[in-house]
Amino acid sequence: MKHETQVALMHKLFALRERGRQQDMLGRVVQLPVNVYSEPSILDDELQSVFKDFPMVLGHASHVQEPGSYLLSDWDKFPVVVVRDNAGTLRAFLNMCRHRGAKLVNGEEERLKAFVCPFHGWSYSLDGKLKGVTRSYNFPDLDPANCNLRELPVAEAFGLIWVHPTATASLDIRSYLGDIADDLEHFNIGELVSYKKTKVVKQANWKLLLKTYLEGYHVPYLHRTTLQAALKNGVIAHYEHGPNIRLVAARTNIEEAMHVPESDWNILNFASVYYTLFPNTFFIMHPDYVSINMFFPIAPNQTIWTHEMLYRPADFQGKDAEKSLAKRFEFTNDVVFDGEDFAVAEGVQSGIEFAPNEVHTLGLEEGLLGMFQASVDAAIAK
Ligand code: FES
Ligand SMILES: [Fe+2]
Repeated sequence: MKHETQVALMHKLFALRERGRQQDMLGRVVQLPVNVYSEPSILDDELQSVFKDFPMVLGHASHVQEPGSYLLSDWDKFPVVVVRDNAGTLRAFLNMCRHRGAKLVNGEEERLKAFVCPFHGWSYSLDGKLKGVTRSYNFPDLDPANCNLRELPVAEAFGLIWVHPTATASLDIRSYLGDIADDLEHFNIGELVSYKKTKVVKQANWKLLLKTYLEGYHVPYLHRTTLQAALKNGVIAHYEHGPNIRLVAARTNIEEAMHVPESDWNILNFASVYYTLFPNTFFIMHPDYVSINMFFPIAPNQTIWTHEMLYRPADFQGKDAEKSLAKRFEFTNDVVFDGEDFAVAEGVQSGIEFAPNEVHTLGLEEGLLGMFQASVDAAIAK
């Protein structure tokens, strides 16, 4: 994040704190029908719009720096493999053999030399060209040029790998993110390294899980024994660029910034910064580590949740480094996300299935939930 943006945001947080009003208020109270979390036809519509028309984060760029290194999608509904080919070009392919559609890469290989299909042994070079057809006399008229792997637009930007699910789409991540691109660029996300990644299935709609991050209203209640002590009771500033959202939540020590010259302000010492990268990525800048959370719908009431933690090696040196990293991961992942936020989301989901005609009432501090839903609705309506 640019230094002048950090200073402007710090002043905004001070103003919110003094006003005693906390999170800047949004619009109006909204009643949201809960069938958006349970209706199979709504998920079908989302899969054809929200998950087709926007760039999606596939993971951290550190995973695909060397030729043959690759990243696999965590979602069977989006079977993609991104690979660095031998010429150093990043490529995204559907992870699907052109013979009879078998999955080419299953994640067991450390590095790829080629794509070799486990079903009948067809092989492709890392740039996607069909190179070998076993017992080729079975295919007398086959034109190999028509059997190259299906390629998708891919970009490495701001330390992340982005893929567009639609082959003909163009990928301009900077204009997609607006000022959020500057933030990610200045935080040097690309220099971080991965500590750990988990993948689990939660029994709740993907939007219900993601929306738990979009308001600070619940922090003093749901997180009263965990985050409450660290965060300044809902003092939150937000910014939107298209459907992407930045949230900045003041930490309890924000007053200490008064004693530090503005030129030395580093916002991460006094606030946590959160980004919703539409549609399904929630990116958190904690003071000394980063969490990338992604949500992939399997069914209206079932979602794959992945969480990757990244850190800067210089911040975790010495013999206790591993212990400190493990402690942070366990606190954020197991205690707060899984044990508090998503446990509540799963409870809400079961209530929805019991009483499907209900509405949820979103107050002024919960306006970003309505905004996120409006982005989903707009994508479907397009
Ligand atoms: S499906 Fe890949 S070689 Fe047959
Ligand atoms: Fe929460």
